[in-house]
Amino acid sequence: MSPESVGCACATETLQADAVLDRFPEARREHLIPILQAVQDEFGYLSQANMLAIGRRLNLPVSKVYGVATFYNQFRFQPRGRVHCQVCRGTACHVKGSATVLEAIRQALKIDPGQTSRDGQFSLEVVACIGACGLAPVVTMNGEFHASVTPDSVRKLVQQYAKDTQNGNGK
Ligand code: FES
Repeated sequence: MSPESVGCACATETLQADAVLDRFPEARREHLIPILQAVQDEFGYLSQANMLAIGRRLNLPVSKVYGVATFYNQFRFQPRGRVHCQVCRGTACHVKGSATVLEAIRQALKIDPGQTSRDGQFSLEVVACIGACGLAPVVTMNGEFHASVTPDSVRKLVQQYAKDTQNGNGK
């Protein structure tokens, strides 16, 4: 199955994925996860075309590639939004209420972790400890840390970033 046969106009991206795959000349099935990570690092997410390219290279059906990728929540299947929001769910943040923070952001953005809003403005990701436990609970917006957040403060943050990106001041 080629990208063209599934109606995907991303042949260029597939060629670029092939360049990433060339870094794994001895690639076998057991290298699937590091390869998925390398392709995601390059493109920010795993497109259908790139999963097809990985499957071809490893001689695996795309259903297997997709099955493995969806098992791990580190993988994304949509491009990131203009504002990429990470919510830490590590232990220290959990103890300080990150579950309610995540729920508030989820409701404010109307997307689930791993998704991107339809207008491409926001994407949401849940991450394990991001090394700032003393600031828990922590969220990042485009890599900028926000400490000791609450459901109320993250709702305001979302509004602020939405306004900033609409005004062309995205951070
Ligand atoms: S647990 Fe969230 S920063 Fe460490």
